[in-house]
This record gives sequence, C-alpha cells and structure tokens, in this order.
Amino acid sequence: MTMKNLVVATGLSFALLAGCQAGSDEQTSNEPQNQAENGGQTNNDSKTHSGNANENQTKDNQENDQAKNQEDDAKQDDSAAYPTMAETIEKKGDNLTVTNPDSIYVVANKERNLPSDFVPKNLVEPDVPSYAPKGDPKRLMVQEAATALEKMFEGAKEDGFELKAVSGYRSYERQEAIFAYNAEQRGAEVANQVSAQAGQSEHQTGLTMDISTPSIGSSLTEDFGDTPEGQWVAEHAHEYGFVVRYLKGKEDITGYQYEPWHVRYVGKEAATEVHKAGVTLEEFFSEEK
Ligand code: DAL
Ligand code: ZN
Repeated sequence: MTMKNLVVATGLSFALLAGCQAGSDEQTSNEPQNQAENGGQTNNDSKTHSGNANENQTKDNQENDQAKNQEDDAKQDDSAAYPTMAETIEKKGDNLTVTNPDSIYVVANKERNLPSDFVPKNLVEPDVPSYAPKGDPKRLMVQEAATALEKMFEGAKEDGFELKAVSGYRSYERQEAIFAYNAEQRGAEVANQVSAQAGQSEHQTGLTMDISTPSIGSSLTEDFGDTPEGQWVAEHAHEYGFVVRYLKGKEDITGYQYEPWHVRYVGKEAATEVHKAGVTLEEFFSEEK
C-alpha cells in the first residue's frame, strides 16, 4: 500500500487543518510536561615475475590491475548508493518495521515503524542555545547530527539569525505519552496530523531537532516558517545536512501537517539533492538513485 493510499485509508483530512495550531512539543503545550581494498593492492604475481621473459606477463598484470581498479571503483559507487525504502523494511508481527533504524537514511513514518526498543547510540547534547534545560533528553541528538546542528546554528548566527533548539531525541515511551496527551486534548484525528504514534516518530532516531526562534517565543507553530529565521532554515538547512521534513503541499505524502520547525539530518549530499528536487524523504528514497 502506498503512503497516499494509507493516508486516504486512514481517513485523514488535511482540510481540517486550516487554522490549526501545530504541535507535539512543549511550547505548544501539546505535550505532557514532563574498503574495500582496491587496486592499490598490488598484484603479488607481478612481484614474483621478473625479467624480459615476463614483459608481456607484466603488461597483462597491469591491464588486470587497471580492470580491477575500475571494478573496485564501481563497487564503491554501489556502496555509496542510497538504500530504497523497499530494501529497508520487514514484517514484524503486525507491523512493518525498518531494518536500518540507526542509518542517517532511515525513513520512519506511518507505514514504517522503528523497533520499539530502538535507542540510538552516541546520543550527545549539541552545544547550541536550547529551550530545554541541560540534561533533558530532548536536548539530545546522535553525534553526527549534533555536530551538524552546531554548524547550522553558527551559520545562522553569522548571517544574523537567532535559532533555538526546542525538542530533539524522544524515547518510544515519551512519544507514546505525547500522542496520548494530544489525542486526549484534541481528539485522535488532529493528534494523528500533528504528532506521530510511538515507533513512528523521527525524534526516536536522534536525527531530528525541532527548532524555533525567540521572536515568536520559541514556539513550534507554522509562524516559524514566516520568520526570517524560518526562511533562513528553509533556504540553508541542506548546506548542513538537514531537510525540512514536513513540507507544505506534501501532507498527503508525509502524513503530517506542514512543520517548518522540524529538521531531519540526512547528510549534506542527500539533503542537497532532496532540497533541489523539492521532494519528501518518501519520494527521494522510493527508488534507487
Ligand atoms: N510532529 C512529528 C510528526 C512527530 O511527532 O514526530
Ligand atoms: Zn519534530
């Protein structure tokens, strides 16, 4: 089943979102408080063959080495290819579960669950201004993403923009509580448009940070997209390896409302391709590149 079909099947109506405040996070009070070895590898045979009688043999070996180098280069290109969504999913019980939860290319969404016991390795606190107090798990991101976030905040500052980190890593259990709270406060239908069910949130991967700016009280609302900071993020996040994950006009593909504040780390190369194409991660990872 495609994401589009699934969303239709689940009866989500994004028309209902007009005027609806975003929110799965603290500010919006919608969350309960709380080598391959290659041709450099000299052919040993060439070392054992020496002298005139072996001139042709040496030439052959050189040609073989050249062919092997080309083959190894091709192998390396393959290993650099992005995984497709079809390659990274398996059925576990009633759920479709991703097989690459700790990859920067993981796609988690309403059809693709993270293992409930998945906790990313190397969670660290990026050194950036944060709404959350020191030590709060929501300050955490995986190391690679944290370093990239620091660089992005520095880049924004150099251009005169003030960003604030609001909410990063969330455990499966915390996401469960957030969804339940939103469902209780606003009903299951709205909750489904603004917050992920446990196991389906990118926040569990440690690759995501919700960001805002003090001029709007560091709130996570659509207003962020209209601030100079939000516009800077939309234009420059890819230069640091991030994409704005939930785009306006792509709600039927992502399954969520527009979230200009939710940035997801995928590395500079993929982020730049995604940004230039103006696509969602679902579209980008749907087929081999
Ligand atoms: N607000 C996004 C969809 C999440 O809860 O992960
Ligand atoms: Zn988010």
